Formats: sequence, structure tokens, C-alpha cells
Amino acid sequence: MTSVQADTAVDTTAPLRFPAGFLWGASTAAYQIEGAVREDGRTPSIWDTFSHTPGKVAGGDTGDVACEHYRRYRDDVALMAELGLGAYRFSVSWSRVQPTGRGPASQRGLDFYRALTDELLAAGITPAVTLYHWDLPQELEDAGGWPARQTAYRFAEYAQLVAEALGDRVELWTTLNEPWCSAFLGYGSGVHAPGRTDPVAALRAAHHLNLGHGLAVQALRTALPEGARISVSLNPAAVRPRTESPADRDAARRIDALANRVFTGPMLHGRYDEDLLADTAHLTDWAFVQDGDAALARQPLDGIGVNYYTPSVVSAVPEGTVPERNDGHGGGEHSPWPGADRVAFHQPPGNRTAMGWSIDPSGLTELLLRFHREAPATPLYVTENGASYPDAPDADGRFHDPQRIDYVHRHLRAVHRAIRQGADVRGYFMWSLMDNFEWAWGYDKRFGLVHVDYETQRRTPKSSAHWYSSIARTGELPP
Ligand code: NOJ
Repeated sequence: MTSVQADTAVDTTAPLRFPAGFLWGASTAAYQIEGAVREDGRTPSIWDTFSHTPGKVAGGDTGDVACEHYRRYRDDVALMAELGLGAYRFSVSWSRVQPTGRGPASQRGLDFYRALTDELLAAGITPAVTLYHWDLPQELEDAGGWPARQTAYRFAEYAQLVAEALGDRVELWTTLNEPWCSAFLGYGSGVHAPGRTDPVAALRAAHHLNLGHGLAVQALRTALPEGARISVSLNPAAVRPRTESPADRDAARRIDALANRVFTGPMLHGRYDEDLLADTAHLTDWAFVQDGDAALARQPLDGIGVNYYTPSVVSAVPEGTVPERNDGHGGGEHSPWPGADRVAFHQPPGNRTAMGWSIDPSGLTELLLRFHREAPATPLYVTENGASYPDAPDADGRFHDPQRIDYVHRHLRAVHRAIRQGADVRGYFMWSLMDNFEWAWGYDKRFGLVHVDYETQRRTPKSSAHWYSSIARTGELPP
């Protein structure tokens, strides 16, 4: 794990200038904002099925209506333009553009994304497309989902369809968003769709996500014009042992393998590390990895996206002690960490966001420097960072969110610190443009720069939006 050097060279009373051309953006994802789940030929994804299953999502919330972005996208783009955002990262709903998960595209589905990107380009906003942000077509789940090898091939075909439709207007492409969540929360702990709780299925899913990424990058390279930039967005864990004891350090190594190296191994280095295979050998022999798969997952990339919110502090659970149920990801009956039953997760002291996540920007610097070291020639992007707070209106109906401003301020300083130490960071995207469907937490957790009143669909920029807007316009972070 990278150590962050002490950095005393910076004047803390002066604004911090970010590099020329740095992208200032905000992120969203299809299922979290679009709604219109039955319109224009869209079929159910695993998140439709999951959210409609009683007990899976807080408050019984679903993405049926969400922020009605499918209908209101023009107004939403106008709002981004007003805020001076330079880039917008959104995802394509697979079951909207390829309703059965295989075969021909739905032109009506693609038309929506063509219209959205045209609107963005007309407003001078750079579109950044994510192909997979967790919403697998239900038909593909019924055929085995990510634990099944064929899903990787379906993903590459879908990537090609979208590239053919949007390649003339989109330059920034991302294959997967946070494949760790798809694999380990979706098939391991089951707190995300499709809600399966099988540790081996989770490992198989991780592998097929790696394979699908590699195949999709190949398909994108063929289908996209020269100049297209292809990346993947990961949610690497900044793992810290609670103490320096050998047992706690080994717990951290184990989680580093399962959270980080299970993806960066194949994607960046073309291999699975021996310790990962050994740690999980009592569960599986990994025979689902075929010769050449790991090498195929390693495709040249033009960017790596880092999504960061909070670090992970872990310790070893001594034999004979019952481990705490805190797994760092919402608890639940089943662990998302295959074979790591004797690792406990801890919340460090200090301030937390409404998600209960501790605030520690040093993890972001650490991760950016780690990728800089592991993939020195590949530009980096912070593709998600942000904070959830309750955000109540004042008497005038305005939303003051100084805590969110402070969170982002501190994390932007952390990004700048990584840049000063050599990391080639090219952009920062806040999660999220607007309040939206926060997966298993439903609408209760608000991450937006823009407040959404779900009764009226009224959008109100919070004070953080105005603050971020001035940074996006000037490229400078005030002291
Ligand atoms: C990660 C995910 O990519 C995004 O969909 C989610 O809403 C945020 N983090 C906040 O949890």
C-alpha cells in the first residue's frame, strides 16, 4: 500500500490551481435517475426485479419514477450548463438499448442517448459514457448472470452496439462501474441485485466482469473512431490494518486482494495473484478461469476511474471470538468477502456522513498514487466522490449544505496533493449531479449537488452546487 508523503510545500492560504484542461464534472447512473422503466421497449433489469422484491430496498423504494430524467433530460442538461459543469458522466441502461440482452439494438432506446449527448454537446458539456452501472437485463440473469461466462460475451456485443450508435459524438468511454459491487454485493452478500448469497458465484462474477471488460475494450477499439478514450471505474479500497500486528496486517492484505487486486491484477497486470487464489482455495479451484483470460482482461487503457468515499480499517478476529457483523458494506447476514470470515471492519473515530462513512481524504491521495505507481502511463480520473447528508430546506426553501462543501473541499485538496506528487489526474466528477435512488437505501440518502423534491420533481441547486460551480469555472480551489 502506498504511503502518502508528508507535503509541507503547499501554501494553505492560497487557492490551489488544477492543471489546464482538467475536467470538472458530475456523475449519475441510469437506474438511479431515469425512471420510465417500461417506456419505449425497455425491459426489466435485475434492479427492477430486486427493488420490487419486498424487503430488499429501504422503504420499498424503486427506480420506477426516480428523477424522471428520461423525460426531463433537457432541463437537467440546462441546469448543468447553468452550473458551468465541463463534463457529465452518465450510464446507459442495457435493457433500454438491447431489451433482451442479446441481438439487435432498440433504436428507440439508443435515440434517447443520442438526444442526451447531442444536448450535452450543444451546451459545451463533455459526455462520459459508462456502459455498465449495475443494471443487467433480467433475461441475462435468468441465463446465469455474471457468474456465467457467456455474460461477458453478451456485454462485449452490447458495448459494440452502443459504440456504433454514439461513437461519432462521445469520446470518453467506461466499460464497468465498480465491478466489486456487481460481484460481491450482488452475488456474495446479496444486498444488491440480483441478491444472491453464494461466495463462489461472487468470485465467478468477478472473473467474468474482468473478462467482459477485456472483451468490451477490444470491441470498443474496433467500433470507435481514433481518439476515443476507454477506461474502467473501480472502487478501490484504501485498506488500513487497525494495528501493525502481523495478524491485522494479514487481514489488510486479504481484503486488499479481494477488494482491489481481484480486478487490478487481471486488468492492469494480466494475472490473478497467488495469495488471492490461496486465500479462497477452500472455496473454489478457480477452474472457471480459462487459459488466456487474465491476459485478455489486460487491455491498454486510456484512463482509470477511481471512485472514493471512505477508507477501510480492518483487523483479524482471533479464533474463538465471534466476528462483528460490520463488513464495511451495510452488514447483512452474508459477508461480501469470500473466505475472509475472520476479518472485522471498524469505523475510525471522527466525523461521518449520513451513510455512516468516516471522512478521511488521505485515502483518495493514497489510491491515486497507487494507480500512478501501478499504471504510470495511464491518466487517472476521480469518477465519483461526494457525501450524503439529510439536507433540509431553510425558511426560504434554500438548501445549505456546508458539510458537503467541506467534504468536497477536503477531497479536492487530496486530489491536488496526489497531482503534486506526480499522479496524472485529469478530472473530478462529483457523485452526484442530483439526489437519486441510492440502491438498497432508496431515496432516503441524498448525495446531490441539486436537491430533488420527489413529489414535484422540482430541482433546487444546493449551496454546494453554487460553490462547485465557481471551482468548475475557474479551475481553482479556494483556500
Ligand atoms: C457508488 C456507485 O457507483 C453509485 O451508484 C452510488 O450511488 C454511490 N457510490 C454512492 O453510494
